[in-house]
Amino acid sequence: MSSKFKSRFLLISISLLVSIVISLIFISISGTNNEFNFYKFSLIVILSLIIIYIFGVIYTRFFLYNKLKEISKDILPSKDISQTVTTNMDDLVDEIKDYDSQMKSEFSEMKKQESFRREFIGNLAHEIKTPLFTSQSYLLTLLDGALDDKSVNKKYLKTASKAIDRLNLIVKDLDLITKIESGQSNLNSVKFDVIELIQNVYEMLDFSAKKKNIELIIEHENNPPELVMADKEKIEQVITNLVDNSIKYGKENGTTEIVVQNLTDEKIIVRVTDNGIGLKDENYTRIFERFYRVDKSGSRTAGGSGLGLAIVKHIIDAHDEKIYVESEYGVGSEFSFTIEKSK
Ligand SMILES: Nc1ncnc2c1ncn2[C@@H]1O[C@H](COP(=O)(O)OP(=O)(O)OP(=O)(O)O)[C@@H](O)[C@H]1O
Ligand SMILES: [Mg+2]
Repeated sequence: MSSKFKSRFLLISISLLVSIVISLIFISISGTNNEFNFYKFSLIVILSLIIIYIFGVIYTRFFLYNKLKEISKDILPSKDISQTVTTNMDDLVDEIKDYDSQMKSEFSEMKKQESFRREFIGNLAHEIKTPLFTSQSYLLTLLDGALDDKSVNKKYLKTASKAIDRLNLIVKDLDLITKIESGQSNLNSVKFDVIELIQNVYEMLDFSAKKKNIELIIEHENNPPELVMADKEKIEQVITNLVDNSIKYGKENGTTEIVVQNLTDEKIIVRVTDNGIGLKDENYTRIFERFYRVDKSGSRTAGGSGLGLAIVKHIIDAHDEKIYVESEYGVGSEFSFTIEKSK
């Protein structure tokens, strides 16, 4: 039974009950003999029922409506009152309950966002502080006299310059992510060979891979060229970030393998797999957040700002493609993404 029907049924029942009571009282007061006049009684019942019902409707429509309107104005500020406030009590209670649960979930979402924001600012401060202090202390040491010491001055300047490069990278990543998020970074889709792009990325990161003796492998189902349609520069950034991670979080003497496979007639999938440190289940959902790093300790070995995967996710989302992650702690990880084939 709908709540509207329920309240109408209740109003009629109460009106009927009251009118029967009134009629009985009236008959007993006005009766001159002891004979019960059924017709007279029915007439009085019907008349009083109509009067009470009309009064009940008028009361709820005008009096209660205005009262509820006042209350609703306070608790449902953004709603069009004339449309949303109902004279039906059950509907109003439902409406307020809905509003209450909506407010509760909004509040818990706000609390979550606030803790993300705090963590985000903390991470940002930490990431900026480290290279900033490094460059500052090396420059001050040089100013204090180390500039004249030929055995160290070049090394100190190089270290300061590297720290500034790191700062520059953070600012560039932040700038890029802000642009992507606000929709200012448009995609420039072109036709290109994804295998050639992967080889270029491998060449670029060969030095850091060699430092850990990590072998860079590429496998593909089809013969090159594997032509795709996407923003070449951005996809290069995606592959660079994923390969960079696979080396950074890879084990000494390990491997990074990229496999390019057909997914459908229109799409291919690029899988970047490593046999590195892997991820624990609780970190899966968070690694694509800005500045999120699994190892938050100051002594962490692998440097980074935690922006890489957030940028990767944004780029893949902007292409309307998908990114997946599979990982086993202590065994390795696989990051894969889809990309549109060129026709
Ligand atoms: N292949 C991987 N294996 C294990 N953990 C990974 C891997 N890739 C990413 N992670 C985890 O996810 C976190 C976020 O990665 P992300 O690339 O966003 O940041 P970063 O590598 O720390 O810094 P940046 O890429 O900005 O220099 C990393 O700190 C790391 O803990
Ligand atoms: Mg990274």
